[in-house]
Amino acid sequence: MKFPNEFIIVLMVGVVFIGFGMQAYAGTKIEKEAFGSVDGVPVDLYTLTNANGIEMKATNYGGIVTSLKIPDTQGQLGDVVLGFNTVKEYVKDSPYFGAIIGRYGNRIGQAKFSLDGREYVLAKNNGENSLHGGIKGFDKVVWEAHAGTSDGGVKIAFHYVSKDGEEGFPGNLDVTVTYTLTNDNTFRIDYEATTDKPTVVNLTNHTYWNLAGEGSGDVLGHELMLNADTFTPVDNGLIPTGELMTVENTPMDFRTLTAIGKRIDAKFDQLELGNGYDHNWVLNRPATDGMAPAATVYEPKSGRLMEVFTTEPGIQFYSGNFLDGSIVGKSGKAYGFRNGFCLETQHYPDSPNKPDFPSTVLRPGATYRTTTIYKFSTELQ
Ligand code: GLA
Repeated sequence: MKFPNEFIIVLMVGVVFIGFGMQAYAGTKIEKEAFGSVDGVPVDLYTLTNANGIEMKATNYGGIVTSLKIPDTQGQLGDVVLGFNTVKEYVKDSPYFGAIIGRYGNRIGQAKFSLDGREYVLAKNNGENSLHGGIKGFDKVVWEAHAGTSDGGVKIAFHYVSKDGEEGFPGNLDVTVTYTLTNDNTFRIDYEATTDKPTVVNLTNHTYWNLAGEGSGDVLGHELMLNADTFTPVDNGLIPTGELMTVENTPMDFRTLTAIGKRIDAKFDQLELGNGYDHNWVLNRPATDGMAPAATVYEPKSGRLMEVFTTEPGIQFYSGNFLDGSIVGKSGKAYGFRNGFCLETQHYPDSPNKPDFPSTVLRPGATYRTTTIYKFSTELQ
């Protein structure tokens, strides 16, 4: 298929002067190009570049982040997210690479829940459970996209209206997810949703990271800090049991930077159930609402550092245990066991069936709002 050149727009955002330093922020830009189609609906690929040359690509199919290039200590840009070159592969093969996850991130046990005395039966797509929104979750729909500039960065807003009853969830849910690439080297995600009937919502992003560069092997040497004293242990269907368990004296203790691989094969029933890490950590939060530090990841070979901040109460750390080398990524390399990891900021899995967990209920008139920031640098703070 051939697309006309006018299809490609380039928004030069111009030059921004900061304070007395008059630092020129030239070159910030957003480009849009055709990215094929899904079920006959054309989709686009957007390239966002910040003032320092950090470049992110995202498509309005699933809101997928297909590429993110950040510098190492030598200033060498490397693509640190797993993914594909074509939308076809995303449709066919993707284990949620880079995608927006909704309506409900992670699992809802037995694919059902009750709200205000009514039971809702959801699509089962993970044994008896519902995972990541069901059979056709937000990772598999075409979003409307609006690109633009924001204070100190470039952004793209994805909008989707999920119909009442979609995948079994009640209420028409109006969702906007905005990605901002800022000039201080952060990737910020703002999630917003409203509903016309009481419902449950838990949105996240499923980017698989490899800070040494996608396709460069396993992530076991990455050092991880999770700001959490407890986690939610799971049963053999990876559904939380409802308790909070201390991380103390367990391989789940990431309160100080520790290599992901250091204890991943330790004899510990929770690691056996997940075939590695695939759990929700309960974030230590200040009493006030707002953004709090969630995680830090340091990759020693490249010196790349990523810090995660969020307004959410939990984070799913998944160590890529379902990757098995059968998927070949964008640079022609197979993604093997544990070749990427996810840090999905979220409410806890199965909250709709766990009255003691923070609530995921959204009612008409209220607005669901959460924010997560991934901050990139090359030095340990
Ligand atoms: C989440 C789940 C995992 C798995 C991955 C995708 O992290 O918790 O069990 O489904 O997504 O493969």
